[in-house]
Amino acid sequence: MSRDELKKAVGQAALKYVRPGTVVGVGTGSTVAHFIDALATMKHDIEGAVSSSEDSTAKLLACGIPVIDLNNVDQLSVYVDGADEINPQMQMIKGGGAALTREKIIAAVAEQFICIADASKQVDVLGHFPLPVEVIPMARAYVARELVKMGGLPEYRQHVVTDNGNIILDVYNLSIVNPAELERKINALPGVVTVGLFAARGADVALIGTEGGVITLK
Ligand code: A5P
Repeated sequence: MSRDELKKAVGQAALKYVRPGTVVGVGTGSTVAHFIDALATMKHDIEGAVSSSEDSTAKLLACGIPVIDLNNVDQLSVYVDGADEINPQMQMIKGGGAALTREKIIAAVAEQFICIADASKQVDVLGHFPLPVEVIPMARAYVARELVKMGGLPEYRQHVVTDNGNIILDVYNLSIVNPAELERKINALPGVVTVGLFAARGADVALIGTEGGVITLK
């Protein structure tokens, strides 16, 4: 099976976590694009979706799924999103698509975070994938120097402006043995909007696409 077929399989498998009559939290990326296609088949049974990016909003609307402002939602039962890496503790690196801040906000509101990923995203230790950090533009050089002090090699993601008008630093050379601590440390730097470590709030369920089928981890 191709990687895209594995992504499609998990996108479809996530549908069973969607409760009729509710608002669904929707992430960003190529795996989520398959989830949105699957969600379109039950668009008349849900109230709508809260979206984590302009890209996902455009796709949701094109599929006829109403997009609802998170501020108008009291309760969000599920948030479905992909990951760049996921460890056995269900902690993740996210933000390869630069949507990390809105993703983290929706994940914080949702009762359940359902991570959908092909098996190539599974790792024992996070950090091989460069860790994205969303930064307010004027703080770029300062934050980069602080990330070097933490042992990282930050690289400015050229020509990328986030949906919130900020820049992304991708941090190489990290072996993240304590993800929750690093998440706290990086988030505490003035000028950092969000780090793409989802450790304090990881996934509740991971649907992993493998050659043998979709595996559910809890
Ligand atoms: C978007 O900013 C990311 O967090 C994505 O969820 C992550 O990059 C996974 O993307 P793919 O599903 O395209 O691999």
